Amino acid sequence: MPLDSRVGRDIYTIGVRQFRQQVLPPGMPVTTVFGYGSTGRPETFHSPAFTIEARYGRAVQVRWVNQLVDTNGGHLPHLLPVDPTLHWANPPGGTKRRDSRPTFTSTPGPYGGPVPVVTHLHGGANTEESDGYAEAWYLPDAQGIPRGYARVGSFYEEFAKKSEAKFGVPWGPGEAVFHYANHGRAATLWFHDHTLGITRLNVYAGMSGFYLLRGGPSDLGEGVLPGPAPRLGDPPGTRYYEIPVVIQDRSFRTDGTLFYPASRALFDGFKGPYVPGSDIPPIWNPEYFGNAMVTNGRTWPVLPVEPRRYRFRFLNGCNARTLILKIVTDPLAHRPVPAKLALWQVGSDGGFLPAPVRRDQLLLAPAERADVIVDFSSTPVGTELYLINEGPDAVFTGGTVGAGFPAANPKTTGQVMKFVIEPLVTADTSTPPAQLTLPPFEPLGAADRTRQVSLGEVASARVPGVSPREALLGVIGPNGKPKLLGWADPITENPAVGATEIWEIHNLTTDAHPIHIHEVQFQVVDRQTLPAGGRRPPEAWERGFKDTVLAYPQETTRVKVRFGQAGRYMWHCHLLEHEDNEMMRPLRVGPA
Ligand code: C2O
Ligand code: CU
Repeated sequence: MPLDSRVGRDIYTIGVRQFRQQVLPPGMPVTTVFGYGSTGRPETFHSPAFTIEARYGRAVQVRWVNQLVDTNGGHLPHLLPVDPTLHWANPPGGTKRRDSRPTFTSTPGPYGGPVPVVTHLHGGANTEESDGYAEAWYLPDAQGIPRGYARVGSFYEEFAKKSEAKFGVPWGPGEAVFHYANHGRAATLWFHDHTLGITRLNVYAGMSGFYLLRGGPSDLGEGVLPGPAPRLGDPPGTRYYEIPVVIQDRSFRTDGTLFYPASRALFDGFKGPYVPGSDIPPIWNPEYFGNAMVTNGRTWPVLPVEPRRYRFRFLNGCNARTLILKIVTDPLAHRPVPAKLALWQVGSDGGFLPAPVRRDQLLLAPAERADVIVDFSSTPVGTELYLINEGPDAVFTGGTVGAGFPAANPKTTGQVMKFVIEPLVTADTSTPPAQLTLPPFEPLGAADRTRQVSLGEVASARVPGVSPREALLGVIGPNGKPKLLGWADPITENPAVGATEIWEIHNLTTDAHPIHIHEVQFQVVDRQTLPAGGRRPPEAWERGFKDTVLAYPQETTRVKVRFGQAGRYMWHCHLLEHEDNEMMRPLRVGPA
């Protein structure tokens, strides 16, 4: 339910605030989080946010307001330790330069200044002004922001002017007004913060939510799939059969506060000293895995379900953990899935698949989505089932995901949520998944060119075995050698408007990286072991449109992309710790 609906568009005003939420089980301490809500209705603030329900062809306008202020109107500091030595939004000194990797003469303490934000609609195809560019961030409109801090990122003003000219809706201080056209395929999109160098912290602190785009030629008619889904303003007691589920790993201190490491000492033992010259970031960790699973903002929740079909829109909202999900009767024994409880995947990142795919387990890398039908109709009332996770350390079809990453603990990170079967309330009129005809799928046409890009890691010049910039993206140079580039290097990915390209993503590292390209939904073409193995077609569940693809180590992953809209976007690894430390590149579509 949009909060204000005028002719032709739904209008929202969504704030980012700090608030307290019962994330841990009832009776345990509450947790302070950052999250989104409707500014006029404090009760709507929650992490994850309320779901934005969008209709195909009907625009959505969101005024995203940075309200990270205290009761006196001063700025709130970040809940988590910011590493100011990264290429980060607001280094002390107030530079707005793009290459803002400041240097310090001694180990800097965590940043205590105001928190910049900017929201990205992941999977949406929108103009650059509304995309949530990492350097279009803005501070809250707070009192007493220390001198020397920039209030906005280097692209904010340009985008504000363009947007105001196009839509006639002014942007106020501490906010950005984004316009979503909703001309894409019906799909499970999500929004989250994307600020340069602190995306991992802003998302971990709670800034994420679902955005469901429905209707249009690529959706199914009402009643064919289980529903309805929760909407803002539903009367209490409404029964839901379509449930968006975001899964995030987090750690907590005994007082309920969120824990995120304040130094990398726990990770690789690097205790400093800080090396001036931007070599080793002293606070940043190359990946962070929490020790608890938080599902829709609660640790290990229980969902009562009826013996009928449900539609779950799963989203991996973890910073770095790739999930392997199964439904089992005993989370400690990991018994196989009862045959009747197969997961039927009908959609992925970019909407419906060409055909439903029966799966025993789901592999979901950070930012990937799976639209899944689960049939509980043959499960006796009173049965308890568990959604378990076996990621990230696992070998999966085609490659190793997260080798050397900590294995899931069956007692903690191995459990996601519990289902308890209760008596049937509402008869199921949805179509059995095996009989579903999904909307027609129109593949992209022939590609105009092939582009070679690479994923790599850099070792420290000063301390052996320590990565100063864990990961970079790059191009393959004319000599066939990869050239690694950081965020501030000149643009190399500059497709023409309307161009269809094959991107060959060469992963030269030993980790799998989920690679996300903004503004597009692409097709996975194939994968190939480096240097010249056989080509492997995409998995059955990767044959729809995607915006994030898992690039396995020592493999080339090919995707076919059509760039529809001119502007400045980004492409990056969606392991948020990597994205925050240079594994992100600007993408310019069309002329400068
Ligand atoms: Cu989900 Cu560029 O991000
Ligand atoms: Cu990565």
